[in-house]
Amino acid sequence: MEASLRKAILLHDITKLQSKEEQWEPYAWYKEMREKSPVFYDPEQDVWNVFLYDHVKRVLFDHELFSNKRERSLIPIPRNQNDDRNNVNSCDPPQHRSRRALLSKAFTPRSINEWKPRIQSLANELVAGLEGQTTVDIVEKLAIPLPIIVIADLLGVPSKDRELFKAWSNILFLPYAKDLFEDIAAKKGQAMKEFEEYLYPIVLEKRRHPVNDILSDLVQAELEGEKLTDEEVVKSGIGLLGAGNEITTTLISNMFYSMLFDKPEVYQELRKDASLIPKLVEEVLRFRFLVTMDRRVAQDTTVFGHEMKQGQMVIAWIASANRDEAQFAHAGELDIHRAGNQHHLAFGAGAHFCLGAPLARLEATLLLTSFVERFSNVSPADGMKVDEHLTASVTGQSLKSLPVHIKR
Ligand code: HEM
Repeated sequence: MEASLRKAILLHDITKLQSKEEQWEPYAWYKEMREKSPVFYDPEQDVWNVFLYDHVKRVLFDHELFSNKRERSLIPIPRNQNDDRNNVNSCDPPQHRSRRALLSKAFTPRSINEWKPRIQSLANELVAGLEGQTTVDIVEKLAIPLPIIVIADLLGVPSKDRELFKAWSNILFLPYAKDLFEDIAAKKGQAMKEFEEYLYPIVLEKRRHPVNDILSDLVQAELEGEKLTDEEVVKSGIGLLGAGNEITTTLISNMFYSMLFDKPEVYQELRKDASLIPKLVEEVLRFRFLVTMDRRVAQDTTVFGHEMKQGQMVIAWIASANRDEAQFAHAGELDIHRAGNQHHLAFGAGAHFCLGAPLARLEATLLLTSFVERFSNVSPADGMKVDEHLTASVTGQSLKSLPVHIKR
């Protein structure tokens, strides 16, 4: 294997799931793994895999055994070693604390709440834009624009340029494939370069004239007694723009998919009682959200009954943990009244718990609230076949479109 390819962990080569539908609905395979091989070693890639809730949680929490300092990953994004000083996701406590503190100010529930009116009015505007149509694509009209406009506003990047940074982050989040590795790596390198060149002058401007946004906070922030360099701020900005839009788009798309196909009666229930919407959002994160995280084994261990060697990689199959019957009764059913569904691990756990969780939850909730108020019904477009609407993503497949009928 070439050195560069060895850095990437190829998920499909572990699951061996071939068709798009299987990759979109890998839940039967997860169940089989939980029952038959809950701790599974893949010799081809030298990677351990854990599928049970308790194991996944342990991997995420225990940074002494399972470290975020890693060379290999599911999604190696091109970057230089020396601009990694402020990368919040590639270090462990205690170093992690100061890097995270740089960003966390912007993401406290209080500062997110200050953004609420702006997010609500954007959501209302997007939903109102559907008026007069009977068939619309939820992904194109709602799930893509809301998160990207919001994160651009928060950072202080012109949201009119969103098509540009959407295209770059799509490429950066592309999954690797063995046969296309060099092509994909080259595309990612190019996208990263263009993204940096785009953000650089914006960051310089913030340094000259700081305003009330995240990039301005970052140019003024200090890490271990030193200001961040312009390059470091650019890198953080790219990380947030990427994290802030791709995954929230998936949450919104999957939420609509679940209302259409997993539990169609839920829409009328939400119409009657909109206070149930946050519960639906939480349950979708548990039930229909493909997430996996990787860690490096930091010291030899037998915590899971097998000999894991220092330096090997572990994949925590979060989406499998979220369907573990030992943790969630009738886990294979979408149930918005479930008690304790907030214990899902879709946002991770422990020191690296997702900083954007309150923002993602808020966006999905406000958007659906606005939608439910306006439309009396939503149903799948005629003859909709899911495999025609999927696209490969790091953790399997995501919806690239979702055509629905809407009724005022
Ligand atoms: C539905 C949407 C989202 C999901 C499911 C999600 C999921 C996750 C997960 C699983 C982690 C843990 C990574 C690890 O353990 O190594 C994480 C970390 C992170 N997320 Fe999110 N995320 C979402 C939205 C967002 C948004 C909107 C933002 C920012 C605008 C964001 C920013 C971050 C950051 C900065 C980290 C790194 C935290 C750290 O390493 O300390 N996320 N996210």
